Amino acid sequence: MRKAKALIFDLDGVVVTTEHNHFVAWKRTADRLGINFSERENEALKGLSRVDSLRKILEIGNKQIEENYFEELLVEKNNFYKASIAQLDRSACLPGVLNLLSKAKEEGIPMAVGSSSKNAKFILDRLNLSDYFQIIVDGNMVEHPKPHPEVFLQAAEAMKVVPSESIVFEDAESGIKAAKAGGFYAIAVGNPNIAALADEFLESLEEFKI
Ligand code: BG6
Ligand code: MG
Repeated sequence: MRKAKALIFDLDGVVVTTEHNHFVAWKRTADRLGINFSERENEALKGLSRVDSLRKILEIGNKQIEENYFEELLVEKNNFYKASIAQLDRSACLPGVLNLLSKAKEEGIPMAVGSSSKNAKFILDRLNLSDYFQIIVDGNMVEHPKPHPEVFLQAAEAMKVVPSESIVFEDAESGIKAAKAGGFYAIAVGNPNIAALADEFLESLEEFKI
Protein backbone atom coordinates (compact mmCIF):
# COMPACT_ATOMS: atom_id res chain seq x y z
CA MET A 1 0.00 0.00 0.00
CA ARG A 2 1.41 3.42 -0.99
CA LYS A 3 -0.16 5.68 1.59
CA ALA A 4 -2.77 4.63 4.11
CA LYS A 5 -5.81 6.87 4.53
CA ALA A 6 -6.38 5.51 8.04
CA LEU A 7 -4.82 3.23 10.63
CA ILE A 8 -6.79 0.75 12.74
CA PHE A 9 -5.12 -0.85 15.73
CA ASP A 10 -6.05 -3.97 17.57
CA LEU A 11 -5.44 -3.29 21.27
CA ASP A 12 -4.29 -6.33 23.26
CA GLY A 13 -0.95 -7.50 21.88
CA VAL A 14 -0.56 -4.62 19.40
CA VAL A 15 -0.81 -1.46 21.48
CA VAL A 16 -0.32 -2.95 24.95
CA THR A 17 1.17 -6.08 26.49
CA THR A 18 -2.18 -7.09 28.06
CA GLU A 19 -2.41 -10.24 25.92
CA HIS A 20 -0.16 -11.88 28.51
CA ASN A 21 -2.50 -10.84 31.33
CA HIS A 22 -5.38 -12.46 29.43
CA PHE A 23 -3.35 -15.65 29.13
CA VAL A 24 -2.51 -15.78 32.84
CA ALA A 25 -6.17 -15.22 33.74
CA TRP A 26 -7.44 -17.88 31.30
CA LYS A 27 -4.76 -20.30 32.51
CA ARG A 28 -6.20 -19.94 36.01
CA THR A 29 -9.70 -20.66 34.66
CA ALA A 30 -8.45 -23.70 32.73
CA ASP A 31 -6.64 -25.01 35.82
CA ARG A 32 -9.90 -24.80 37.78
CA LEU A 33 -11.57 -26.83 35.06
CA GLY A 34 -8.72 -29.36 35.01
CA ILE A 35 -7.90 -28.48 31.41
CA ASN A 36 -4.33 -28.40 30.10
CA PHE A 37 -3.67 -24.94 28.79
CA SER A 38 -0.37 -23.46 27.70
CA GLU A 39 0.77 -20.48 25.61
CA ARG A 40 0.41 -22.74 22.59
CA GLU A 41 -3.32 -23.34 23.15
CA ASN A 42 -3.73 -19.68 24.02
CA GLU A 43 -2.78 -18.71 20.46
CA ALA A 44 -6.23 -19.85 19.31
CA LEU A 45 -7.92 -17.60 21.88
CA LYS A 46 -6.20 -14.37 20.93
CA GLY A 47 -8.62 -11.85 19.48
CA LEU A 48 -11.72 -13.86 20.38
CA SER A 49 -14.44 -12.39 22.59
CA ARG A 50 -14.55 -13.36 26.27
CA VAL A 51 -17.43 -15.77 25.70
CA ASP A 52 -15.83 -17.40 22.67
CA SER A 53 -12.54 -17.73 24.57
CA LEU A 54 -14.17 -19.76 27.35
CA ARG A 55 -16.01 -21.85 24.75
CA LYS A 56 -12.64 -22.54 23.12
CA ILE A 57 -11.05 -23.62 26.42
CA LEU A 58 -13.94 -26.03 27.02
CA GLU A 59 -13.54 -27.33 23.48
CA ILE A 60 -9.81 -27.87 24.06
CA GLY A 61 -10.60 -29.82 27.25
CA ASN A 62 -13.57 -31.56 25.64
CA LYS A 63 -15.70 -30.46 28.57
CA GLN A 64 -19.23 -29.23 29.07
CA ILE A 65 -20.45 -27.13 31.99
CA GLU A 66 -23.72 -25.63 33.25
CA GLU A 67 -24.66 -22.19 31.98
CA ASN A 68 -24.55 -20.65 35.47
CA TYR A 69 -21.05 -21.94 36.05
CA PHE A 70 -20.03 -20.68 32.61
CA GLU A 71 -21.24 -17.17 33.54
CA GLU A 72 -19.55 -17.40 36.93
CA LEU A 73 -16.22 -18.30 35.33
CA LEU A 74 -16.50 -15.35 32.93
CA VAL A 75 -17.04 -12.92 35.80
CA GLU A 76 -14.25 -14.46 37.82
CA LYS A 77 -11.81 -14.36 34.90
CA ASN A 78 -12.61 -10.74 34.21
CA ASN A 79 -12.21 -9.74 37.87
CA PHE A 80 -8.84 -11.44 38.02
CA TYR A 81 -7.78 -9.88 34.72
CA LYS A 82 -8.95 -6.40 35.75
CA ALA A 83 -7.03 -6.66 39.02
CA SER A 84 -3.91 -7.63 37.10
CA ILE A 85 -4.12 -4.50 34.92
CA ALA A 86 -5.19 -2.10 37.66
CA GLN A 87 -1.77 -0.43 37.74
CA LEU A 88 -1.25 -0.38 33.99
CA ASP A 89 0.72 2.57 32.64
CA ARG A 90 2.46 3.57 29.42
CA SER A 91 5.42 1.32 30.12
CA ALA A 92 3.04 -1.46 29.02
CA CYS A 93 2.89 -0.04 25.50
CA LEU A 94 4.59 -2.18 22.88
CA PRO A 95 7.68 -0.91 21.02
CA GLY A 96 7.03 1.80 18.44
CA VAL A 97 3.42 2.45 19.48
CA LEU A 98 3.74 5.87 21.09
CA ASN A 99 6.00 7.12 18.33
CA LEU A 100 3.66 5.94 15.59
CA LEU A 101 0.60 7.44 17.30
CA SER A 102 2.18 10.85 17.61
CA LYS A 103 3.63 10.80 14.07
CA ALA A 104 0.31 9.78 12.50
CA LYS A 105 -1.46 12.45 14.51
CA GLU A 106 1.02 15.08 13.30
CA GLU A 107 0.37 13.99 9.72
CA GLY A 108 -3.38 14.13 10.23
CA ILE A 109 -3.94 10.43 9.52
CA PRO A 110 -7.13 9.28 11.24
CA MET A 111 -6.74 6.41 13.68
CA ALA A 112 -9.07 3.96 15.39
CA VAL A 113 -8.96 1.01 17.74
CA GLY A 114 -10.78 -2.17 16.77
CA SER A 115 -10.76 -4.52 19.74
CA SER A 116 -12.74 -7.54 20.91
CA SER A 117 -12.23 -6.45 24.48
CA LYS A 118 -14.97 -4.96 26.61
CA ASN A 119 -12.19 -3.38 28.67
CA ALA A 120 -10.67 -1.46 25.75
CA LYS A 121 -11.86 1.98 26.84
CA PHE A 122 -10.76 1.39 30.42
CA ILE A 123 -7.26 0.47 29.21
CA LEU A 124 -6.93 3.37 26.77
CA ASP A 125 -8.08 5.82 29.43
CA ARG A 126 -5.62 4.44 31.93
CA LEU A 127 -2.83 4.90 29.40
CA ASN A 128 -4.17 8.31 28.50
CA LEU A 129 -4.26 7.34 24.81
CA SER A 130 -7.96 7.68 24.01
CA ASP A 131 -7.58 11.12 22.44
CA TYR A 132 -5.42 9.76 19.63
CA PHE A 133 -8.35 7.84 18.20
CA GLN A 134 -11.31 9.12 16.23
CA ILE A 135 -13.20 6.07 17.31
CA ILE A 136 -12.69 3.14 19.66
CA VAL A 137 -14.77 0.17 18.58
CA ASP A 138 -14.77 -2.43 21.33
CA GLY A 139 -16.39 -5.70 22.32
CA ASN A 140 -19.47 -3.91 23.65
CA MET A 141 -20.29 -2.45 20.25
CA VAL A 142 -20.31 -5.40 17.88
CA GLU A 143 -22.83 -8.10 17.23
CA HIS A 144 -20.34 -10.39 15.51
CA PRO A 145 -16.89 -10.67 17.10
CA LYS A 146 -13.61 -11.38 15.24
CA PRO A 147 -12.96 -13.22 12.92
CA HIS A 148 -16.04 -11.39 11.61
CA PRO A 149 -14.95 -8.02 10.14
CA GLU A 150 -17.67 -5.94 11.86
CA VAL A 151 -15.34 -4.32 14.39
CA PHE A 152 -13.04 -2.97 11.67
CA LEU A 153 -15.88 -2.06 9.30
CA GLN A 154 -17.48 0.06 12.04
CA ALA A 155 -14.16 1.82 12.57
CA ALA A 156 -13.69 2.52 8.84
CA GLU A 157 -17.24 3.79 8.50
CA ALA A 158 -16.81 6.17 11.42
CA MET A 159 -13.59 7.53 9.88
CA LYS A 160 -15.26 7.72 6.44
CA VAL A 161 -12.54 5.69 4.75
CA VAL A 162 -12.79 2.59 2.58
CA PRO A 163 -11.24 -0.65 3.88
CA SER A 164 -8.85 -1.11 0.95
CA GLU A 165 -7.15 2.18 1.81
CA SER A 166 -6.91 1.44 5.52
CA ILE A 167 -4.33 -0.57 7.41
CA VAL A 168 -5.27 -2.94 10.22
CA PHE A 169 -2.53 -3.91 12.69
CA GLU A 170 -3.14 -7.27 14.34
CA ASP A 171 -1.33 -9.88 16.42
CA ALA A 172 -3.99 -12.61 16.27
CA GLU A 173 -5.16 -15.06 13.65
CA SER A 174 -8.81 -14.16 14.27
CA GLY A 175 -7.92 -10.49 13.81
CA ILE A 176 -6.02 -10.93 10.54
CA LYS A 177 -8.90 -13.05 9.24
CA ALA A 178 -11.35 -10.30 10.25
CA ALA A 179 -9.27 -7.64 8.51
CA LYS A 180 -8.92 -9.66 5.31
CA ALA A 181 -12.62 -10.56 5.30
CA GLY A 182 -13.41 -6.85 5.48
CA GLY A 183 -11.11 -6.00 2.59
CA PHE A 184 -8.48 -4.18 4.68
CA TYR A 185 -4.71 -4.19 4.21
CA ALA A 186 -3.66 -6.43 7.11
CA ILE A 187 -0.32 -6.14 8.86
CA ALA A 188 0.63 -8.89 11.29
CA VAL A 189 2.65 -7.48 14.16
CA GLY A 190 5.03 -9.47 16.36
CA ASN A 191 3.53 -12.88 15.67
CA PRO A 192 5.33 -14.74 12.85
CA ASN A 193 2.82 -17.62 13.03
CA ILE A 194 0.18 -15.48 11.35
CA ALA A 195 2.48 -13.76 8.83
CA ALA A 196 1.33 -15.95 5.95
CA LEU A 197 -2.30 -14.86 6.44
CA ALA A 198 -1.42 -11.17 6.34
CA ASP A 199 -0.39 -8.74 3.60
CA GLU A 200 2.73 -7.84 5.51
CA PHE A 201 4.59 -8.84 8.65
CA LEU A 202 6.40 -6.57 11.08
CA GLU A 203 8.43 -7.68 14.08
CA SER A 204 7.12 -4.58 15.89
CA LEU A 205 5.48 -1.24 15.11
CA GLU A 206 8.94 0.32 15.31
CA GLU A 207 9.46 -0.99 11.77
CA PHE A 208 6.40 0.76 10.37
CA LYS A 209 7.11 3.88 8.33
CA ILE A 210 4.20 6.20 7.58
C1 BG6 B 1 -9.10 -9.48 22.86
C2 BG6 B 1 -7.98 -10.32 23.40
O1 BG6 B 1 -8.60 -8.24 22.49
O2 BG6 B 1 -10.13 -9.31 23.83
C3 BG6 B 1 -8.50 -11.62 24.03
O3 BG6 B 1 -7.11 -10.63 22.35
C4 BG6 B 1 -9.57 -11.29 25.04
O4 BG6 B 1 -7.43 -12.30 24.61
C5 BG6 B 1 -10.68 -10.49 24.36
O5 BG6 B 1 -10.10 -12.48 25.60
C6 BG6 B 1 -11.85 -10.14 25.26
O6 BG6 B 1 -11.41 -9.25 26.23
P1 BG6 B 1 -12.26 -8.78 27.50
O7 BG6 B 1 -11.37 -7.71 28.09
O8 BG6 B 1 -13.55 -8.25 27.01
O9 BG6 B 1 -12.43 -9.96 28.37
MG1 MG C 1 -4.66 -8.78 19.86
